[in-house]
Amino acid sequence: MNPDATPSAEARPLRPRAPGLSFTDPPVPRYWFDGLRHATLLVDAVNLLFPKGERFFVRSVVHYLPRIEDASLRAQVRGFAGQEGKHAKAHEDFAAVMETHGYRMESFMRWYQRIAYDTVERAAPPALRLATTAACEHFTAMLAEEALTEGFLEKMHPAMGRLLRWHAAEEIEHKAVAFDVLRLVAPGYPLRLAGLGLATTLLGGFWVAALVDLHRQDAKLPPAPSREATAEELAKGPLGVFVRGILDYARPSFHPDDQDNRALAAAALQQLGLEPS
Ligand SMILES: [Fe+2]
Ligand SMILES: [Fe+2]
Repeated sequence: MNPDATPSAEARPLRPRAPGLSFTDPPVPRYWFDGLRHATLLVDAVNLLFPKGERFFVRSVVHYLPRIEDASLRAQVRGFAGQEGKHAKAHEDFAAVMETHGYRMESFMRWYQRIAYDTVERAAPPALRLATTAACEHFTAMLAEEALTEGFLEKMHPAMGRLLRWHAAEEIEHKAVAFDVLRLVAPGYPLRLAGLGLATTLLGGFWVAALVDLHRQDAKLPPAPSREATAEELAKGPLGVFVRGILDYARPSFHPDDQDNRALAAAALQQLGLEPS
């Protein structure tokens, strides 16, 4: 154990919330992201990764619960697990909606399970699984900030905007939990970098693979109403966030709370009616 490591967010209890999503009233169309085909498929692709990914994050962090003596950090781990469990279920529910749009993801999901969880997760020692989770949580928190500040959510079908605003806000709320457990139980910098390398490879690789599969299927489906992206819209994407995220996380002194954006999360939750204003 690292005696210097203390939880970074003592006064912030984490609680899972139920956002009350309806994907059928009104129904979510196939190109639910402002009619944009590629942008919709880009988010559909990461949606497919979330349920299994978030359950892996929970397994990786909860594994260390018996070694955490600090009551505040223990409570945060439990809150984190509760929030991720609800996110996983909500994205699973949306994956079922994607099926109604005509996409068939069984073979991709089998392949994703076999490589990521039956092979890599089993082979990796617990500390590397935790380091990978901490880096993935950094990426999700950065993507969350982008979603909450770039005006994307307002352009989506209301249920999808609500799903992603809620998820983004809670990702920011719990962004330091896995990192704080990592610096408590395995604080070495080389391990943190190894986790960053694995997280970048797995998240980036599976996201691209899911996107390619969805595009391949989409081209064979009957046409659905869509519009062309503008040049300004085409310039936006997750690649820049990944690059900034890698550079940021690779700083030896990095901590998720260096970027103080919790007010952004609180405002989003108030906007959703999930926190009192
Ligand atoms: Fe999540
Ligand atoms: Fe998370």
